[in-house]
Amino acid sequence: MEIRRIAGALGAEIHGVSLGKLSQSETDEIRRVWLENLVVFFRDQELTPEQYMAFAKRVGQPIPYPFVRGIEGFPEIIEVKKLEHEKVNFGGVWHSDTTYLEQPPMASMLLAREVPPAGGDTLFANMYLAYDRLSERIRALLDGMTAIHDGEMLYRGRYGSDDAGKVYPRAEHPVVRTHPVTGRKCLYVNRFFTTRIVGLSKIESDGLLQMLFRHVETPEFQVRFRWQPGSIAFWDNRCAQHRALWDYYPNRRYGHRVTVAGDKPF
Ligand code: SIN
Repeated sequence: MEIRRIAGALGAEIHGVSLGKLSQSETDEIRRVWLENLVVFFRDQELTPEQYMAFAKRVGQPIPYPFVRGIEGFPEIIEVKKLEHEKVNFGGVWHSDTTYLEQPPMASMLLAREVPPAGGDTLFANMYLAYDRLSERIRALLDGMTAIHDGEMLYRGRYGSDDAGKVYPRAEHPVVRTHPVTGRKCLYVNRFFTTRIVGLSKIESDGLLQMLFRHVETPEFQVRFRWQPGSIAFWDNRCAQHRALWDYYPNRRYGHRVTVAGDKPF
C-alpha cells in the first residue's frame, strides 16, 4: 500500500489496494491512515454495490441517509446525481454530514461513477486545525458552549410544499467536540446546519457563528480533490467538513454515497 499525502492540512491518497478484496491488515492500515489524515482517497475502484457495502461494513455500520431513498436493493447507498438541467447542488455549502441528528455519522464515503469533463471537485477542511488556530481567548470562550444544529434549513420546502407543520430533526452539540478515538479537540459548527449558540442572544450568536464559519473556510485548512470515475473519498465527519463545488453546468456528475453510523458528540 502506498500513501501519498496531497495537502499540508489533510488528505491522503492510498494506492496499491483493491477495496473489493481487502485483508484485515489492509483494513487496519486504511483506518490508521484515515484517522491521521481525516480523509483518504482511492482511485480506480469500480466496485459493485455489493463490494461497496462490504467495504463500508469493514469500517463501520452503514446507515440510511435521512429523507433520501437508497438505490434498489441497497437502502444505505444513495445516489448523488446532478443532471444537466438540475439547479440544486447536494452538499454545496461547508458542512459535516447530518449534524442535526443526536448521533451524527462517524464517516461518509462517495464513489464517483460519472464526472464532468472539468470541475465538480470536492473540498475538505481540517477541524482540528481550525480549532488549534483560534486564539487562546476564543478557545476559552467556546469551551463548554453548545449549539443547535437544525435540519429544517436544508429540508424545508425541498420535498414539495406540503411540509407545513412538519418538524425536522434538530440536536444540541458541543461547539468544540473531542474526537472519541484520537482524543483531540475540533471545532464542530457548520454553515449548513448550525443555527444558534445556546445561552447567547441572537445577535451574539449570529456574530460568533459567522466568525467561526469564515474561520473554518480558511484555504490553508483545506484539500481539494479532483474526481475520476472509480475514485472514492472516505472522510471522518467528526473532525472534517466538506463542500461539493458546482462549476460544471450543464454537465452531469453522478456518484454513490454511503453514510456510516457515529455516536453522540462530547
Ligand atoms: C456530500 O456528501 O455532501 C457531497 C459530496 C460531493 O458530492 O462531493
